[in-house]
Amino acid sequence: MKIVPMQRNLILGLIGLVAVAGCWFLLFPVGEGQNPDEMVNLLQKEARRKAAAREADRRAKTDLALLAKQGRGQRLPDYLMSSIDREENFWFIGKPDSTAGVQIPFEPGSLPLPPPDTEPLNPNPGFLGADACRECHAEKHESFIHTAHHRTSRLALPEEVSGSFEEGGNRMNTSTPEVFFTMKKRGDELFQSVNFFDWGFEVPFNIVVGSSKMAESYLYWHGDQLFQMNCTHLTESDTWINSPGFIDGDAVFARPIRSGCLDCHVTYVDYRKSANHYTPKSMILGISCERCHGPGKQHVDYHHAHPDTKQSKYMEVPSKLSRQAQMDVCGQCHTTNKLPKGEQVFQFRPGDKLGDHYDPIEHQADVSNSVHTANQVGRLALSTCFQKSEMGCVECHNPHRNERGQVGLFSKRCLECHQQENCGMHDELGSRLADNCIDCHMPMRATKNLQVETRDGNIFPPLRDHHIRVDQQATDEFLKNLR
Ligand code: HEC
Ligand code: HEC
Ligand code: HEC
Ligand code: HEC
Ligand code: HEC
Ligand code: HEC
Ligand code: HEC
Repeated sequence: MKIVPMQRNLILGLIGLVAVAGCWFLLFPVGEGQNPDEMVNLLQKEARRKAAAREADRRAKTDLALLAKQGRGQRLPDYLMSSIDREENFWFIGKPDSTAGVQIPFEPGSLPLPPPDTEPLNPNPGFLGADACRECHAEKHESFIHTAHHRTSRLALPEEVSGSFEEGGNRMNTSTPEVFFTMKKRGDELFQSVNFFDWGFEVPFNIVVGSSKMAESYLYWHGDQLFQMNCTHLTESDTWINSPGFIDGDAVFARPIRSGCLDCHVTYVDYRKSANHYTPKSMILGISCERCHGPGKQHVDYHHAHPDTKQSKYMEVPSKLSRQAQMDVCGQCHTTNKLPKGEQVFQFRPGDKLGDHYDPIEHQADVSNSVHTANQVGRLALSTCFQKSEMGCVECHNPHRNERGQVGLFSKRCLECHQQENCGMHDELGSRLADNCIDCHMPMRATKNLQVETRDGNIFPPLRDHHIRVDQQATDEFLKNLR
């Protein structure tokens, strides 16, 4: 059949009508859309549906929890720039017109890698952890698990982290309003969630460091590497703050946890290579009995094999060593004046000289508080008490109990060697002295060596000064509080 132009137009017209009618039916099911008001309504509805779909799409790209389920992080928007520092091995992310910055050891848009199940590189020298001592030393074990030593590192289970994860208490702001941190809890997992302008990422809490007397810091695994998280929890004010040494306004998750840090805060971990490669499953958290008594395996094996033997074998007791050797046992961790030799850690044994495993740091021997410790070994050595007696640390501290804060109990220990009548304040204060020799002679002191940056200024946590002396300032403070 030959189609003349007029007929052709008619046919196209008809096809058009059918097509429109088809769409019409799709858009407006039968019985709707007959009057103009309803039509406007339906068009608005459609617009809302599209907006909702767009929003869902945007959320899917930015909802960190959703993305994490898919094993992804949020893509970096174009207006943020990133560069890689190959020497230090981290990515830097910044905004051209802002001083704030992000440092992460994983690529922006990805997540930290879970810890691998690798086998240790070096044999464990016999560390077992405190639980291995329980069956035969139940009483000591029972009191020991409440000490700062045992609690100083542990898995970051929700009940082990002090800070708040509830709205109102779970946010840390910085001096840059668009940079803030939110602590999030999903099931048994905890995260520090970073908001950096319109971009964000999340890092899981893996390990808590600190018995939370002053603070708790947190570590996370990225493969076989450990890093410190940006936010620390400060006990006194129950707030989230920047970790010591971190700059307010930045989001830093690339500070490596070097072996020296773990040497003081865990019992043992297999150290693979510089700066911070470890075998995750080899790690024994907490400081166990064995860091003061020596690795326990031989002792435990022996006493299992000889259950009737009452004579201990393969165990050291620090108080049977010379005073210097006792100081060196505690000095593994309670002095600012040491650097692991060639990063060799976990090798000190009771009876060894500190100098066999650690190098001194110049001008650090007697400083007070540092980021790491109040340097009790160095400070005590300055005291007349120490110089004129055989006093060690256990004259005042029972390593198997938590005696924190019991000023009266500690004062009794002063009175093992002193008479309260010999204190120059006795005439004025009489028997009231006996309750507290500590605050006047071992005052809490903060120093610039230990400072933390917050949005509202710097914080200096105070610690006991172990330089026992007559201190007029402390005496004045004490008397003022008494009145
Ligand atoms: C199978 C039992 C058994 C286990 C497990 C065990 N011990 Fe012992 N331990 C003994 C016996 C028995 C003695 C000797 C009697 C005593 O002093 O209680 C002893 C004594 C000691 C002493 C005192 C040594 C001395 O010279 O006075 C120390 C310190 C010690 N053990 C530490 C540990 C540590 C640390 C652990 C865990 C790593 C541990 N023990 C696990 C049985 C055991
Ligand atoms: C392997 C490292 C290590 C060794 C060895 C060590 N300490 Fe500690 N000690 C620590 C750390 C870390 C803390 C802080 C724990 C915390 O609060 O998180 C601590 C805390 C303490 C406290 C404070 C307890 C409290 O609750 O306030 C005392 C006291 C103490 N140590 C005494 C000693 C004495 C005495 C020795 C030697 C017999 C010793 N330590 C050996 C690492 C060590
Ligand atoms: C030389 C040993 C040493 C090193 C290295 C060290 N610390 Fe400590 N740390 C201590 C001691 C000891 C204390 C307890 C403070 C005191 O009483 O002197 C402490 C206290 C702390 C606290 C506060 C604990 C509380 O209960 O309030 C935290 C958190 C902490 N350290 C984290 C770290 C981290 C993270 C690292 C590594 C980046 C580190 N420390 C490196 C010895 C050390
Ligand atoms: C911070 C160091 C340190 C830690 C940790 C530690 N001890 Fe001791 N322990 C000592 C010192 C120092 C002495 C000597 C105490 C004294 O003479 O007053 C001692 C003494 C002992 C003794 C023999 C004397 C006694 O009091 O019976 C036993 C047994 C013992 N410790 C077992 C343990 C066990 C088990 C653990 C862990 C559950 C443990 N210790 C944790 C430092 C420590
Ligand atoms: C092991 C014994 C011993 C213990 C425990 C002890 N001291 Fe002393 N202390 C001494 C001796 C010895 C002297 C020097 C006395 C002298 O030369 O007459 C001394 C001196 C002092 C002085 C004078 C300091 C100076 O510079 O002139 C003060 C203050 C003091 N002690 C306070 C204390 C306090 C407070 C405690 C408890 C926290 C304490 N001592 C625990 C043995 C001890
Ligand atoms: C003359 C007594 C005495 C001696 C000796 C002594 N300390 Fe202390 N130490 C104290 C008192 C008192 C406190 C405060 C305790 C408290 O408030 O819980 C204290 C607190 C501490 C703390 C907790 C830090 C803080 O500021 O709260 C550590 C860690 C510590 N001592 C370690 C040591 C070590 C290591 C030695 C040996 C080098 C030692 N002490 C020797 C009396 C002593
Ligand atoms: C209110 C603060 C304060 C308290 C509490 C206090 N002291 Fe003192 N103490 C002083 C002052 C100040 C002097 C120096 C007085 C002088 O030289 O006239 C001193 C001096 C001393 C001396 C040195 C005496 C000498 O021969 O030089 C000793 C030892 C001493 N006190 C021990 C103690 C003991 C032990 C206690 C607890 C029972 C205690 N003090 C409680 C403030 C205090």
